[in-house]
Amino acid sequence: MKRVIIDKKKCTGCGICVQICPYRAIRMTEKKAEYILDECFLCGHCQAVCVVDAVRIEVLESTLGLATVREMTEVVQPGQYDTVCLVNLMRSRRSCRKYSGTTVALSLLEDLVKIGTTAPSGTNSQGWNFTILSTRDDVLSLGEMTAEYFRKLNKQAKSRVLRGLMKIFGHDKLGHYFRNYHDSVAEALKEWDEEGRDRLFHGATACILVTGKHCASCPAEDALLASQNILLAAHAMGLGSCLIGFAVEAMRRTPEMRKKMMVADDEQVYSVIALGYPAVAYARPANRMSVTPRIYSEHH
Ligand SMILES: Cc1cc2nc3c(=O)[nH]c(=O)nc-3n(C[C@H](O)[C@H](O)[C@H](O)COP(=O)(O)O)c2cc1C
Repeated sequence: MKRVIIDKKKCTGCGICVQICPYRAIRMTEKKAEYILDECFLCGHCQAVCVVDAVRIEVLESTLGLATVREMTEVVQPGQYDTVCLVNLMRSRRSCRKYSGTTVALSLLEDLVKIGTTAPSGTNSQGWNFTILSTRDDVLSLGEMTAEYFRKLNKQAKSRVLRGLMKIFGHDKLGHYFRNYHDSVAEALKEWDEEGRDRLFHGATACILVTGKHCASCPAEDALLASQNILLAAHAMGLGSCLIGFAVEAMRRTPEMRKKMMVADDEQVYSVIALGYPAVAYARPANRMSVTPRIYSEHH
């Protein structure tokens, strides 16, 4: 069954859809565009580029269906957006480590997920999936499971025998963890256990887990690009956010955690995004170390 339908009556034969199709799924037949395959990767470029609206792809939604943000139908053409504002937004997003405790509306979290899906994905697989934790209790539940994973890991890493054995077999991962993380994790766990201080999620009231399907061509890249969209949109919407790598590590290595978080067997976790209303305002945007790119033509 053809998944891209071209209305020959509307088609003016301009051929632009043929030129931009990355799949070579469209050709010109008697001065009209014709979709010649049964399926392609449904990127929707043919539909988006057609000025007379002659292309229909049923599986693609015409809007994101956002509940808390107005959606525009106009395309921002290259060069039309305010770069100064965009760069400033990017520099103003910081990892938030102090939240007010106010709950984030579920509708807002759902919108963030939808905004995440505007990211590019390898061969347009869109093989991402998301789990939303919308209450502080949900976040604490993930926090406790993460803490439990690190309690066990710290115990193993503390064992000189185990570290030595692993090194003999060519794995110094446990030794590396012991040297670099053991003490700070032990301190954070002590504070979590004895004072209820949350140095993992920093008091966030919500969380979005971003997963990718094993079968996708680039699951990690897809999930991380969607994550960056979520981080930027969250900032624009007044939320603070922080990627929590410790929780990703724990979930990757603990099947029960993935099960509890409804992550399917054919998915991997790529990011855990803590969210909430920030309790601290920054006075200046992010400063970064300077980077000097290698210019190919200067060396060839
Ligand atoms: C993959 C990844 C994992 C991270 N994990 C954590 C984490 O577990 N806890 C935390 O507080 N920050 C975490 N961060 C946030 C970084 O520390 C932060 O991005 C970096 O210091 C730059 O600061 P900025 O995000 O405020 O610009 C993580 C960031 C990335 C990209």
